[in-house]
Amino acid sequence: ATEAVTEAARAVGRDRTVAVVGTGTMGQGIAQVALVAGHPVRLYDSASGRAEEAVAALTARLDRLVEKGRLDAPAREDAVRRLHAAAELDELADAALVIEAIVELLPVKQQLFADLEKVVGDDTVLATNTSSLSVTAIAGGLRLPGRFVGLHFFNPAPLLPLVEVVSGFATDPDVATRAYATVKGWGKTPVRCADTPGFIVNRVARPFYAEALRVYEEGAADPATIDAALRECGGFRMGPFELTDLIGQDVNEAVTRSVWESFYQDPKFTPSLAQRRLVESGRLGRKTGRGWFSYAEGAVRPEP
Ligand code: NAI
Repeated sequence: ATEAVTEAARAVGRDRTVAVVGTGTMGQGIAQVALVAGHPVRLYDSASGRAEEAVAALTARLDRLVEKGRLDAPAREDAVRRLHAAAELDELADAALVIEAIVELLPVKQQLFADLEKVVGDDTVLATNTSSLSVTAIAGGLRLPGRFVGLHFFNPAPLLPLVEVVSGFATDPDVATRAYATVKGWGKTPVRCADTPGFIVNRVARPFYAEALRVYEEGAADPATIDAALRECGGFRMGPFELTDLIGQDVNEAVTRSVWESFYQDPKFTPSLAQRRLVESGRLGRKTGRGWFSYAEGAVRPEP
């Protein structure tokens, strides 16, 4: 019990600002979690108007929670008062924790953190939500790489409890503990891990997708049949084909490619040509209306 109290005391205080940089799918979800937990939240996005749009989208989400009876009206008012869009990076100066959820490109992330380090205080924890880049590499050019940590949320962040707390080569163990305690206090289920390609979940999930794609490529069964078999008998909530349609074929393929390259092209992680063709043809999954399945008019149908 004493250990738990000590750990909780390490969490970033609820009165301290959490900044979220990159306000797309993940940034909005993470911001919602921090906001509902009680922090002042500041959003920044380099695309003009995007942070304000995220404030509007988050406010609408809070309204839906009120409608569903999962948030009361005063709590909604309070949350909206604590949520602000920042027009410039400088406005994140007083953040105790910055969580980055921008585009998955190493030089862009490195540049952002170099800029952030000029703005925030030395004790600000800097975190990345990267799903496939090296936490160590993102922190490589920092003046104080010890305060840098991976906080890998899963999509949708407000619903999925798991967060991988990733220690890079230079991450200070106290900083990892602080990040762990903070997300635990937000009601999440954090796990700690070291910085290896794909961390835990994206790494272990690779063979799940890869073998299913091979079974399909060998003509053994179609995607709907493979999905059904894994759902019914394998105990998976979703089969690999419907799941990658939800994630986005482009996103899923990019993660596979990144893990494969990180392991010096270990054949175990070889990307699939069938999936490549799907990406090339623009059939990215639910977001484009077609992937392994068709989602036209709300109905899920096998693609020919
Ligand atoms: P997204 O494309 O929905 O949003 C990215 C946002 O970042 C955009 O609004 C863009 O304008 C902004 N942005 C780009 N460069 C920027 C910069 N230099 N400074 C400030 N803002 C910038 O992307 P999504 O899906 O939310 O992914 C974000 C990060 O989260 C990526 O690192 C991704 O690997 C990771 N991730 C994604 C998951 C997913 O299922 N989508 C799951 C877990 C992690």
